[in-house]
Amino acid sequence: MPVICMTRNEVRNARLGRAIRTVLLSAMLLAPAVSAGAEEAKPLRLCADPTNLPFSSDDPGEPGLYLEIGQAVAKKLGRTVSYNWYKSYFGKRTVRETLLSRQCDAMVGLPLVDDFMGPSVIFSKPIAHEGYALVAAKDRKVAGIDDLKGLRVAVQYQSTPQNLLAMRDDIQKVTVLSPEEGMTALDQGKVDVAFIWAPVAGWLNKTAYGEKYQVASTEGDGLLWQTAIGFARASGALRDEVDGVLPSLQAEIASLFAKYGVPNGTPVKFGQADQAVTSSTGASEPVTVGQATATEKPVQTAAVAGDAAAGRETFNGTCAHCHGPDAVQAERKINLRLLKQRYADDMEATFWKTVHDGRPAKGMPAWKDVFSDDELKNVYAYLQSVQETGGSN
Ligand code: HEC
Repeated sequence: MPVICMTRNEVRNARLGRAIRTVLLSAMLLAPAVSAGAEEAKPLRLCADPTNLPFSSDDPGEPGLYLEIGQAVAKKLGRTVSYNWYKSYFGKRTVRETLLSRQCDAMVGLPLVDDFMGPSVIFSKPIAHEGYALVAAKDRKVAGIDDLKGLRVAVQYQSTPQNLLAMRDDIQKVTVLSPEEGMTALDQGKVDVAFIWAPVAGWLNKTAYGEKYQVASTEGDGLLWQTAIGFARASGALRDEVDGVLPSLQAEIASLFAKYGVPNGTPVKFGQADQAVTSSTGASEPVTVGQATATEKPVQTAAVAGDAAAGRETFNGTCAHCHGPDAVQAERKINLRLLKQRYADDMEATFWKTVHDGRPAKGMPAWKDVFSDDELKNVYAYLQSVQETGGSN
């Protein structure tokens, strides 16, 4: 292709790939060349998935929650935005190939967990919460797990809700493969409640179901976590700048959540079913046990010894599926942060016996053929480092 014959704008358009015609971008493309310009003249490059509504989309008429938050941040910084489209959800591979390869500057909506990708990713202050919601007819009471007794509840395959309800024989689970399928089951009367991924549930409720249902965010371990804007480690200065403007954007961000139907309201507490909360104050920050450490600026190493850090990686890669990320788990029976409280001096012996042989009848696999004892020792070191001390609630 005779690239040399293309105008500057054509070259840029070609590079941008998919046609992007937001007013903002057109303005940017028509602007004078920025190569030698001041730092603030450079657009803020957002990493974005073109087909991931309600979060992001390459339809300028409906850019999605995260891209609009990114736009608002850029505007506050006096910068335009550009996009690096990458068709994938926010998997680690995506982060590696976009943000960490410096294809883009910022990724809105990464989960704010301190070991998300080790120290290579740094985070802004939290911008929102994300997690699972109970979706039901508006007149149904869903203030806690016990309200689900005797009901048919759609749960997504291999999700926290599925794990959470697995132990409840008095709740009939209907497994679905996606939030879309959960909403359909609800709408067709095949289930009474759908316990599904909240952002998509809220978005569909708004766009496809005329806001017919209530979408109640749930709060509990693995059900709700904070999200933030992620940056490559070298972008500390940009991160600090963004943190500087975030407080002034709170109202705007809240209204963007409403625009896309994504729930950001007071969650239903699921951690303790007997204390289901109905009256906490609307605006306050929900506090979730799982985020006790993550709400602080992510600390990647320091406190944790080397082997415990390796153990955490193993744990989050394999055990977290049932026991929760970072061993945060609402179901007390499989909450491994309570091992010390539960077994005291027998903690270590119980760990080895259970992990080696499993409790197959109870759904705990045996791991002795999967991991070496050294690897399991690391997991133990990690679990030791997260034991809850003293009176739990
Ligand atoms: C497929 C789900 C699943 C996975 C994956 C899993 N566990 Fe478990 N685990 C369970 C269940 C269920 C129990 C509770 C069994 C019971 O009721 O006694 C359990 C119990 C345990 C216990 C004993 C808890 C106690 O208080 O008695 C330990 C320790 C444990 N798991 C460690 C691990 C470790 C370490 C890993 C990863 C290498 C892991 N588990 C992976 C399901 C799982």
